[in-house]
Amino acid sequence: MDTQVNVAVIYYSSTGNVFELAKAAVTAAEKVGAEVRLRKVRELAPAEAIASNQGWSDHAAVTQHIAEATLDDLDWADAILFGAPTRYGLPAAQLKQFIDTTGPLWAAGKLVNKVGSSFTSTGTAHGGQESTILAINNTLYHWGAIIVPPGYAEPVQFQVGNPYGASHVSQNGEVLPGEVELASMDLQTRRVVEVAKAMRPGRMAWPQPALTA
Ligand SMILES: Cc1cc2nc3c(=O)[nH]c(=O)nc-3n(C[C@H](O)[C@H](O)[C@H](O)COP(=O)(O)O)c2cc1C
Repeated sequence: MDTQVNVAVIYYSSTGNVFELAKAAVTAAEKVGAEVRLRKVRELAPAEAIASNQGWSDHAAVTQHIAEATLDDLDWADAILFGAPTRYGLPAAQLKQFIDTTGPLWAAGKLVNKVGSSFTSTGTAHGGQESTILAINNTLYHWGAIIVPPGYAEPVQFQVGNPYGASHVSQNGEVLPGEVELASMDLQTRRVVEVAKAMRPGRMAWPQPALTA
């Protein structure tokens, strides 16, 4: 019997590059039978900043219909894929702010044994893809999540060159993810879903630890 898994793809994107990867994750997860929620995190930047950048305001308009991430999305998910652009070598604050609202779920032990994985986009090739993904993944350690990276599990990873998570160099917003980056996202998502499927029967059987006294 095939095991149904719930996948939350939770992302932030200013100018659409991470959004393209997030959409590829949704397609890949659905292709292997997962139930998927695509969720953007809340924008924190002031309206004037967004309006001053055509790419940013266009992207905000195009993604207006996408629901904002809530704690229920994390609670519901067996597996979570987090995506954020790099900001000075770190994930965008908008994603971090959402992560910082998860205390109640963490305290109730509800994030333990989730399957997690992260992806990013930078402006430049050595602009901090790995540091961004590793920074997001630090949270997954705290949750007691099972981190599933793409590694070099398929040949496309030798083209994209980043075993930590799907990554794209946008040349500062000039180039959207192409075939190789989307294939890497596809691989990463399939691996996440496969591991989540394998783990789900056990996860359902284990008691949820309550971390608060
Ligand atoms: C404030 C700020 C800081 C950034 N810092 C970096 C950086 O450290 N390294 C890098 O390569 N690109 C950096 N970028 C570029 C973005 O990460 C890049 O354009 C990314 O592809 C945007 O993704 P998005 O289209 O999903 O928003 C920065 C952009 C901004 C606005």
